[in-house]
Amino acid sequence: MHRPLAVSFAATLLSLVSAQALSEADITTVTQNLATGAQQSWELGTRAQSLLDLYVPNFSVFSSTGLPPSASVPSNTTSALAPVFSIAKNVVSALKLNSTSGPSGLVGGDGAAGDPASIGVAVLLANWTGQGSGDGVDYAKAAQSQLEYTLNVVPRTSDGAISHRVAQVQLWSDSVFMVPPFLAYYGVLTGNTTLLTEAYNQIKLYRNYLRDTDAKNLWKHIVLGNNTQDGPNDDGHWSTGNGWAAAGMLRVIATMKNSPYSKDFSSQQKDLASWVKEIHTAMFANIDSTNIFTNYADKPASSDMFYDTASTSLIASTVYRAALLLNDHSHLPNAEKCREALFATSNSSSSSNSTFGRRQAGDSSASHSASASASRSASRSSGASSVSPSSTAPLASPSATTAPLSKLAHFTDDGWLTPVVNPHQFGVQGQNSPEGQAFVLELQAAYNEWVASGSPGANAAGRTASAVVGWAWVAGCVVVGSLLAYA
Ligand SMILES: *[C@@H]1O[C@H](CO)[C@@H](O)[C@H](O)[C@H]1NC(C)=O
Ligand SMILES: *[C@@H]1O[C@H](CO)[C@@H](O)[C@H](O)[C@H]1NC(C)=O
Ligand SMILES: *[C@@H]1O[C@H](CO)[C@@H](O)[C@H](O)[C@H]1NC(C)=O
Ligand SMILES: *[C@@H]1O[C@H](CO)[C@@H](O)[C@H](O)[C@H]1NC(C)=O
Ligand SMILES: *[C@@H]1O[C@H](CO)[C@@H](O)[C@H](O)[C@H]1NC(C)=O
Ligand SMILES: *[C@@H]1O[C@H](CO)[C@@H](O)[C@H](O)[C@H]1NC(C)=O
Ligand SMILES: *[C@@H]1O[C@H](CO)[C@@H](O)[C@H](O)[C@H]1NC(C)=O
Ligand SMILES: *[C@@H]1O[C@H](CO)[C@@H](O)[C@H](O)[C@H]1NC(C)=O
Repeated sequence: MHRPLAVSFAATLLSLVSAQALSEADITTVTQNLATGAQQSWELGTRAQSLLDLYVPNFSVFSSTGLPPSASVPSNTTSALAPVFSIAKNVVSALKLNSTSGPSGLVGGDGAAGDPASIGVAVLLANWTGQGSGDGVDYAKAAQSQLEYTLNVVPRTSDGAISHRVAQVQLWSDSVFMVPPFLAYYGVLTGNTTLLTEAYNQIKLYRNYLRDTDAKNLWKHIVLGNNTQDGPNDDGHWSTGNGWAAAGMLRVIATMKNSPYSKDFSSQQKDLASWVKEIHTAMFANIDSTNIFTNYADKPASSDMFYDTASTSLIASTVYRAALLLNDHSHLPNAEKCREALFATSNSSSSSNSTFGRRQAGDSSASHSASASASRSASRSSGASSVSPSSTAPLASPSATTAPLSKLAHFTDDGWLTPVVNPHQFGVQGQNSPEGQAFVLELQAAYNEWVASGSPGANAAGRTASAVVGWAWVAGCVVVGSLLAYA
């Protein structure tokens, strides 16, 4: 391949149509911020999965090449998989499992029972591809310990829903992303369909408790806890929580569908698909003309309720995934509008409020929502441990272009999505959200694949120009990938 030509071809396309797409340099900056920011258990798990989805799609659960993935790592994916394996290695090494310790979550001392399971996908992949034979780390044992902990130690409701918290039974919408995708992936990699059934059952139970028919099927955030410092409940319809639920369900659908057991789980996939659509319908009924969700979707923007680009990115990503996996295009027009708003340039006509969300220097104001000012981290046990940031090098080589995102309305100059909910305090506006950065990667990944597959349902979205953008990005990504591989 004549690489320099290909580079300039891609660059030309990108410069022509950059108005509503992030450039590769933008994405690299977003990825680097995610790497430095992600420290809590769910942030590490979310980071690992977003890296797979965007940079190593052959090892993603969304890969149409099928599951289980290849047991050997092709040379052209070694560098892209390195940060994912690094997360698994750091976490499992810190765990220090021994023969006398009972089953435990992948991150010890985390008050959340559900969150550490999200790292399980990276740990299972590390085992599957034989990383342990090189570094001596027992990934299978750690994954098994997390599984047994989740199934046999964590408290449950009387009908079997596994608590999101260690110290008491409390269900969080977040858990749908953290736990069932791990159970399903474990089931497929070990040929244990009981675990696929359990993944489905958990989601069904969670929906029974969290779906709010009085709010047209939006999901509540947190229920059943004793509403004290350890377990503040949150009956509000947290936008990110609705996104976690839809995204977790889509991961389980993909894991089933791309596995050898797809036919055995067709009715479960059908149910899950209808529950994803139910959330999309409920959420988009509430979005206003900015095409950015508020932190609690059914509460209009006000002095107490801010816009949240993190949940908007996550929800939009799930609409493209639903288009690809389920052939469901009904909400594509909404997702396209969200994506255009999220990636709008400061001057762009689609950005009706050019200063919207831009952080002023020194502005640390956090607006408190009426419904919740509870702290996610404060509600963790005092021994809550954060895993030390991985020493992983960012994906891009030092020579890859990185640039400030100074021209984008919804990113700070140094490349953080804004405005966002504080990921450690779900009722409060924050500054840097690692999970928000991961949601941007998920949006980019799903959008790229949607475009590469011919933008199914694009007519419903009424846009054709977007196809050019995606193709240019895909072409550029491949070019950069091959440059890195040959570097
Ligand atoms: C990776 O996926 C592509 C399609 O997305 C496929 O053509 C290719 O064979 C896959 N490679 C491996 C090693 O599975
Ligand atoms: C690696 O090569 C395969 C073809 O063998 C291709 O499908 C895949 O996209 C490549 N992966 C990356 C990350 O470049
Ligand atoms: C095994 O792990 C448990 C729990 O982490 C710890 O209390 C115990 O001291 C460890 N035992 C050994 C021999 O390392
Ligand atoms: C670990 O990987 C091996 C294949 O190398 C597989 O047989 C085993 O079931 C895996 N264990 C887990 C817990 O995934
Ligand atoms: C609430 O649950 C926590 C965790 O189990 C417990 O420590 C605390 O005592 C409980 N508070 C009340 C008032 O029941
Ligand atoms: C599947 O996993 C469950 C939970 O770990 C276990 O109890 C069961 O024995 C496994 N089934 C098979 C066939 O391995
Ligand atoms: C417009 O920007 C201002 C200043 O950042 C912000 O307070 C306001 O919420 C934005 N309005 C809309 C509709 O985006
Ligand atoms: C915004 O508009 C100003 C004035 O027309 C122009 O100088 C600047 O380059 C524009 N910025 C972008 C990102 O288009």
